[in-house]
Amino acid sequence: MSEIATIEIEGKKYEFPIIKGTENEVAIDIKALRGSSSGVITLDPGFKNTGSCESAITYLDGEQGILRYRGYSIEDLAEKGDFLETAYALIFGNLPNKEELEKFESDIKAQSHVDEDVKKILDGFPKSAHPMGVLASLTSALIAFNPDSEDVDSEDEMYNAIVTILGKFPILVSWALRKKQGLPLDYGDDSLGYVENIAKLLFKKPNSDYKQNDIIINALDKLLILHADHEQNCSTSTVRIVGSSHAGLFASISAGISALWGPLHGGANQAVLEMLEAIKEDGGDTKKYMAKAKDKQDPFRLMGFGHRVYKNFDPRAKIIKVAADEVLADLGVTDPVLDIAKGLEQEALSDDYFVKRKLYPNVDFYSGIIYRAMGIPTDMFTVMFALGRLPGWIAQWREMRLRKEPIGRPRQIYIGENHRSFVDIENR
Ligand code: SDX
Repeated sequence: MSEIATIEIEGKKYEFPIIKGTENEVAIDIKALRGSSSGVITLDPGFKNTGSCESAITYLDGEQGILRYRGYSIEDLAEKGDFLETAYALIFGNLPNKEELEKFESDIKAQSHVDEDVKKILDGFPKSAHPMGVLASLTSALIAFNPDSEDVDSEDEMYNAIVTILGKFPILVSWALRKKQGLPLDYGDDSLGYVENIAKLLFKKPNSDYKQNDIIINALDKLLILHADHEQNCSTSTVRIVGSSHAGLFASISAGISALWGPLHGGANQAVLEMLEAIKEDGGDTKKYMAKAKDKQDPFRLMGFGHRVYKNFDPRAKIIKVAADEVLADLGVTDPVLDIAKGLEQEALSDDYFVKRKLYPNVDFYSGIIYRAMGIPTDMFTVMFALGRLPGWIAQWREMRLRKEPIGRPRQIYIGENHRSFVDIENR
């Protein structure tokens, strides 16, 4: 392939370098486009054709259904690894050796507490508050209680901010859940591993001894690994652009949480369960919902289906679908919505509308079924997504800062009024 791309504008030719990634992805480097005498920009709503950065963290191939973190396949990580070492690999580049992992875990445990005054902020929320709004607020509030984590420039300062939020975030997640449930706000248990501690934070009841359920631990570990990063998705791009103004890590993560909340993004896992429940209430009438999803006059979409990048099966959905069967069987739980989900999947995969648009189940289609089997409330599903995505957001923010990326500031094409004179109100 040529190293140069030529664009002709009004008879004049402009040349731009072509760059190729380590997986042979190709881009036209248009950094010099507007500065050239053409003065033109490109326009790409939703950035469907636009790369925002070069990154060494996650590679995904939407046609082949491939997803790798730092070159390790998610299939290997989900089967052989655990969430903490996956988080380390995403953030620092390689799977850790024993010493590195022990230090990482110890530094995180040293941060696994939250200032009691944060509870006063939580007290201000009604129980009905959506836990994603609570989590975004408490994450931003952490800045006030950890000022050293805000204005970080050195790798050491960044490392301290990173282990601080990895230590405190699971506590905020558990407080968001326990606030809704009217349960006492608990702290973790340093004798436990990272995911074991998360499970205890979520499920420990005040009136009985906590008994660890390894089925839940294994399923949770796998789900967190599968959600850990996904290159430049909406919430990660948000974290990067907020961080590019040199707002701190916690402020950038808080913005990412808000972006993830949307039902077109991470909020889809909650919307999937609400959709499946509605279909169940409707007597399992999947055909009615398929018709709604295809009706352009109807805003309804088949939640958990379709993806900006995957035009094949989302590899995470494949793994989670198998895990859903296993977890429900192991827990001795039967959930009628799982059968409805499988029926819907079968119908969609043989429906011309979906086949033509390459709409397959994505990561959100089956994950909520497992979270529900674990006893997690539906409006906490996206919080669980955020818990998994935290290391990815951190890794992307750190890469952006270490590569000294410029502040994100897209251009636009103005389509409003041309200049006009001010008119006094008496004459309007
Ligand atoms: C996540 O980006 C990431 O990596 C995200 C994520 C991550 O890990 O960070 O993978 C997590 O967000 C997964 C996606 C969760 N969202 C949902 O499940 C919501 C339902 N899906 C859609 O809203 C949609 O598929 C998106 C938002 C996921 C992708 O939308 P795109 O890429 O902008 O595609 P589009 O809206 O342009 O759709 C193309 C066509 C349209 O029809 P036509 O105009 O061509 O006739 O497909 C149709 C759409 O109407 N379509 C759907 C559909 N998704 C797309 N029709 C019915 N149901 C759907 N779910």
